[in-house]
Order: sequence, then structure tokens, then C-alpha cells
Amino acid sequence: MKVKKAVIPAAGLGTRMLPATKAIPKELLPLLDKPVLQYIVEEAVAAGIEDILIITNRGKSAMEDYFDYVPDLQERLAADGKAELLAQVKNPADMANFYFLRQKETKGLGHAIWRAKSFVGDEPFAVLLGDDVMRAEVSVTRQLIDAAEKYGASCVGIKEVSDEAVAKYCSVEITALEERIYRVTDMVEKPVPEEKFSNFAILGRYVLSPGIFPILETLPPGRGGEIQLTDGLQRLCQVEPMVAKDFEGKRYDTGNLVGFLEATLAFALDHPETGAWLKGQLAMNR
Ligand code: G1P
Repeated sequence: MKVKKAVIPAAGLGTRMLPATKAIPKELLPLLDKPVLQYIVEEAVAAGIEDILIITNRGKSAMEDYFDYVPDLQERLAADGKAELLAQVKNPADMANFYFLRQKETKGLGHAIWRAKSFVGDEPFAVLLGDDVMRAEVSVTRQLIDAAEKYGASCVGIKEVSDEAVAKYCSVEITALEERIYRVTDMVEKPVPEEKFSNFAILGRYVLSPGIFPILETLPPGRGGEIQLTDGLQRLCQVEPMVAKDFEGKRYDTGNLVGFLEATLAFALDHPETGAWLKGQLAMNR
């Protein structure tokens, strides 16, 4: 099973990051010098993904421009001998083959993924949520693909989270197969406490069989009146094998202020231009 395609749902309105997201897609807000979306694309490419479909929406066409060349700027940088900056400007467009499709209606994550049906065809594919940025030694998507390939199954990326977080995300029913890999038998989106299976929640990464599409096609709306991917996966795991990978790495929800700041600080500590300065500032304010 070779996974070469990925879908990045990035059609959300970004209401938790207003007013910044009034005119800029939340996926293009910068974590230091690169937009959130570039970190996600880099993770996909590091996992061996070649074709990337970004599910977009009205008012978000700047995402297409970002993954394109900018000839005037590139010529100027070349003429000025700024080779490193030139590469940084040009590289995003060369990382993969990019495709864009508008969701058209804001009907939920399950609906956004269903829109990817003709792009995906009859192959397994990865899903990387556009808000969830990972910091990991090995691409989290790669970790999921390895587990999916080993078990001939779909695979969801999970982490053990607090009671409050489970209620905000979802809860999966799992049994251990090996260290960090589990069989998935049930799940529920945004559970009330009585519905919870475990404190393991799916956090923004999936490797799915195309068997998800006929399920999403007829799936009724769930929590919040939206077509929920989790509801589709709940049905998929009844009829096809599904595993969960407790992935190695840290996940940041850049769709809210605290998560965005946390990610900014984490990446700033690693960045050659800012790391030493930030460490100094933090030590000074202790
Ligand atoms: C979505 C999914 C949920 C998942 C969460 C975190 O929720 O529906 O199952 O746990 O992302 O990746 P949202 O954050 O869009 O409410």
C-alpha cells in the first residue's frame, strides 16, 4: 500500500482568530517566517506524499498564490544575488503537485473530505487537518502510513488527553496491538462524559481507505448539525480494519490564540535567528 495523495481541509472561517483572519486565511498566518500551512505540507512531503489537494473556500485564494511562483519577485532576488531567500520563495511551489477545490458549502469536516472523492480515486490517502501543526522527529503522517501499511488498515493518529479535551475532540475505543499501536473498534465525536470510550482522541491526522467515501455520501449530520468525519470513521471501523497510532511528537492547535502562541514559542526556540534571543528573554523574566 503506497500512500501518495493527501487531503488538507482548509475551508474553515477562522472565527477563533478574528480579526486577523478577516482578510488572511488562518492557514496562512505565520509561525515565525513560514505560514501554518507550509509546516503541514512539509510534514506530508516528508511522509512521501506527492499530490496534495487543499479543500478551500471563498476568500481564501491567497493559499493558491502561496504555492505558486512569483516571477517578478524571484527575478529581483536573483538579480540581487539573494540565493537563499530566492530558494525560500520558490520552494513551496516545488514541494508537491498542488490541487485546490472549494468546499462550496460549510457542512462539516466529513463533507469536506467527501469533496476529495474524485481526486483520491481508489487509493488510500492521508488527511492532515489545516490547524494542527506537529513538531516531531519523524513526520507524524509517515508514522501513520507505516502503521497502516503494516496492518493493511486505515490509521488514525491519537494521543491521550484530559477529560475537557476529549469532550472538545473525540474519543476512541481501542485495544492494544503493540507498543503505541491499537485496534480501533468504535469512536464518538465530542462525547458527553457517559459516551466516552477512553481519553484517547484523534488529533488531526488520518490515513484512510477509499471505503470512507460511500459512507460519507449518505452520512446524516451529527454533532453541531455538521457531517462529522468521526461518524464516518465509526462506521468504517465496523466493516474494515482500522488501527490507531499514538504518534511520537507534539501537536499544536494553531486555530486558537493559546495554541498559536505555544507553537510560535516552540518553533522560535528552535529557530537559528530567534532561539538564543528567546531563551535569554525567558531566563530574564523568570
Ligand atoms: C476535529 C475533529 C475531531 C478531532 C479534532 C482535533 O474537531 O472533528 O474529531 O479530534 O478536529 O483534530 P474540530 O477541532 O474541528 O472541532
